Amino acid sequence: MPERLFRFIPDQASTLAPAVDNLYFFLVALSAFFSILIAGLLIYFAVKFRRRPEHAIADEHGVVRGGQDPEHGAHGPALALEIAWTVIPLVIVLGIFFWSNRLFFLISRPPADAMEVFVVGKQWMWKVQHPEGQREINQLHVPVGRPVRLTMSSEDVIHSFFMPAFRVKMDVLPGRYTTAWFQATRPGTYPLYCAEYCGTLHSGMIGQIVVMHPDAYQAWLEGAPSGGQTLASAGEGLFKSFGCAACHLTDSPRGPRLAGAYGKPVSLEGGASAVADEGYLRESILNPQAKIVAGYPPIMPTFQGQVTEEQLIQLIAYVKSLGAEEGGAARSAQGASELRKD
Ligand code: CUA
Repeated sequence: MPERLFRFIPDQASTLAPAVDNLYFFLVALSAFFSILIAGLLIYFAVKFRRRPEHAIADEHGVVRGGQDPEHGAHGPALALEIAWTVIPLVIVLGIFFWSNRLFFLISRPPADAMEVFVVGKQWMWKVQHPEGQREINQLHVPVGRPVRLTMSSEDVIHSFFMPAFRVKMDVLPGRYTTAWFQATRPGTYPLYCAEYCGTLHSGMIGQIVVMHPDAYQAWLEGAPSGGQTLASAGEGLFKSFGCAACHLTDSPRGPRLAGAYGKPVSLEGGASAVADEGYLRESILNPQAKIVAGYPPIMPTFQGQVTEEQLIQLIAYVKSLGAEEGGAARSAQGASELRKD
């Protein structure tokens, strides 16, 4: 597409983009229609019912001559009018509600077969990790035509991962994970911005999304620096060096066994339950006392301040891979689809 001097809207380069734009343009058109209608009627009535000398002068009893008394207007047409201006807006806003609701769920539920990418925001850069171990800064390479699920966190303050061409914008928060997804429809290079004011160099916290043909992407993956480790294998090293294995790899009375645990429900002390998703695993590492698994003593030390955001991602990737190794892949996929339902 040739570069234009001015773009009314950014490129539409994801499957979500047309859906978002359709709703946007509908809302703009609807607002414009009613704004013009109301402004037009305002002017029309102001002129039509402007003050005229013979209507405006009240007699000595305060009665305006020539004006029509609204109390004696026809009740039928007035009632019909009131019903019309109640029912028509009701139908319109209900339509907007159901339309935008459908779009919201489409945006917030990544497809089950999405490839995973981890994003860590910090002042003032984006750090990206692929499951195969490749790392990027201020760049994200993805294949065209494949859904990509982003799991994001921040090392410091609130940032926002914004890809205008994909119509995706999601806050990136310290202390928890947020997710977003997209499926690029056209190869090319698209801008990435931080859309939340995050300090002095906020405006410089920009990057690129490089959408490639699958073959080119595969070639890129093989050529990109990965440190020779996948996220899961890096996580395995951390798992051992932090001493997690002693309590969590075997059937120990000290801590729950983690193989196959990812994506599955967990019974907690006190009768509540949780799902072992990324957010749960993250909390269990940083703040183990927050949710105690039923039947285990609350003895795990906190790793707050000892693991970086990137190491957390690696540890979680390792726990996920434990599920897959033990034939738990189907179960974790099921768990993931259950997650999307809530
Ligand atoms: Cu990060 Cu603005």
